[in-house]
Amino acid sequence: MDLDFDLAKRTREFAYTDTNFSYLSALVKARSGINLSDAKRELVYGRVAKRLRSLGFTTFDQYCDFLEQGNEEELTHFINAITTNVTDFFRENHHFEFLSNTWLPELMADKAEAEGSDKRRLRIWSAGCSSGEEPYSIAITLRENIPDIHRWDIKILATDLDSSIVEKAQAGIYPLERVRDLPQAHLKRWFRLGLGGNTGTASVCDEIKRMVTFKTLNLMEEWPIKGPFDAIFCRNVIIYFDKPTRATMINRFEKMLEVGAYFFIGHSESLFGANKSFKLVGRTIHRKVDL
Ligand SMILES: C[S@@+](CC[C@H](N)C(=O)[O-])C[C@H]1O[C@@H](n2cnc3c(N)ncnc32)[C@H](O)[C@@H]1O
Repeated sequence: MDLDFDLAKRTREFAYTDTNFSYLSALVKARSGINLSDAKRELVYGRVAKRLRSLGFTTFDQYCDFLEQGNEEELTHFINAITTNVTDFFRENHHFEFLSNTWLPELMADKAEAEGSDKRRLRIWSAGCSSGEEPYSIAITLRENIPDIHRWDIKILATDLDSSIVEKAQAGIYPLERVRDLPQAHLKRWFRLGLGGNTGTASVCDEIKRMVTFKTLNLMEEWPIKGPFDAIFCRNVIIYFDKPTRATMINRFEKMLEVGAYFFIGHSESLFGANKSFKLVGRTIHRKVDL
């Protein structure tokens, strides 16, 4: 018997049954690919309880009935409530070191050889970008390492399923504690301290913001994106999917990459042998090769 679950049952504000959990977890999986194991029963309760409060419901049965009626707006709120948006500036810093020390010098050497041709085009996708720290860290790294960046045509696409987090990302305003550990030089150069109503915050400067385009996109659906990309960051996202969904996703990403392009994944993820075109070239860094 699960004692924690039993205790929680007796102290809950809203009636919540195993049937409610099964219904909600099936809906999340169908809509987002996120696979919620039984261990996530209490997490789901905690996150969805806020929705019940704001809608004035008293039981999860009522909430599940409401979703069952196909209320798209509430479905969006529900999925937004379930997603885990943990992220950080320069999270898994070895990826940004790889950009600075290996990839960008390689690209700059190529560009020097091809001097006289068109602007060097660079397309990067941050898939599952959460509140924007990842794409902004990529933009800062490019800005700091490419001296003649104005002669490059650079676009970073940043997408996430959670529409509310994409809005936050687009605003680019962060509480000071989120940027406290960044090197002072980065902070001074790429952030503006909030004044008046924004005291206690730092916002990403316009020069960096202009490099990133944010969009809401569910990776489980069609991707209205042309590509190809020179690099894709999909870090700490596929970990939430089941094995077949991960494999499908990895193959879809592979098709969006040029030969020679890079695919960055999260620290606890692997490509599970899903696609032979990817060669491991660094810690959780893969390169697409010509087979
Ligand atoms: C833990 S965050 C990772 C953020 C960032 N990539 C990083 O590594 O710091 C996972 C993100 O994936 C997003 N996500 C989950 N399922 C998704 C899906 N089906 N389509 C698009 N984004 C999804 C979540 O909304 C969340 O913001």
